[in-house]
Amino acid sequence: MTSFTGILSDLDRVLLSAEEIHDRVANMAAQIQRDYEGKVITVVVLMDGALFFVADLLRQIDLPIRLVTLGASSYHGGTQSTGQVAIQWPAGADFVNQDILLLDDILDTGLTLSALRERLMAEKPATLRAAVLLDKKRPRSHDCPLDYCGFEIADEFVVGYGMDYQGRFRNLPCIGILKP
Ligand code: IMP
Ligand code: MG
Repeated sequence: MTSFTGILSDLDRVLLSAEEIHDRVANMAAQIQRDYEGKVITVVVLMDGALFFVADLLRQIDLPIRLVTLGASSYHGGTQSTGQVAIQWPAGADFVNQDILLLDDILDTGLTLSALRERLMAEKPATLRAAVLLDKKRPRSHDCPLDYCGFEIADEFVVGYGMDYQGRFRNLPCIGILKP
């Protein structure tokens, strides 16, 4: 295993270790498998932040899965949301009557996920649920019900396990807080 002494030294502290993340994701996978038994799941993944989460999660679910990736962002490289969501809609995607599981890395203001939820509901799926690895405890400007959540965290900017600061730190195996 790589020890990550290079980019790890930019962290003020580790919030969730690779082991803690691994255990919780396995747990979520088991729960999702029970809930979707007998169904085909259409997993809609928000790139790039959810990349590692989705890879670890889906490899532990023994059910047929259709995978659709899309881009949506309200952040443009900084640590503050801009208040607008740009969705890159996948060409030719068909969501009618599908059981959709929407996956994202982290719920912050709720703007991104609520915009996407609304857009997907317009496609008339059979069901639509949402899963995030992290739920930031903060006042939410946009209502966004979650069906699966890995961890609740404080309102701090985190990096690692897919999440970036200005394009960096996605490849950290743990999740941490950057030095000021
Ligand atoms: P929201 O629309 O404010 O809920 O923001 C959600 C998106 O912003 C997530 O999908 C992340 O990509 C990004 N984001 C929010 N908080 C953080 C953070 O603490 N670190 C890295 N990315 C974040
Ligand atoms: Mg994201």
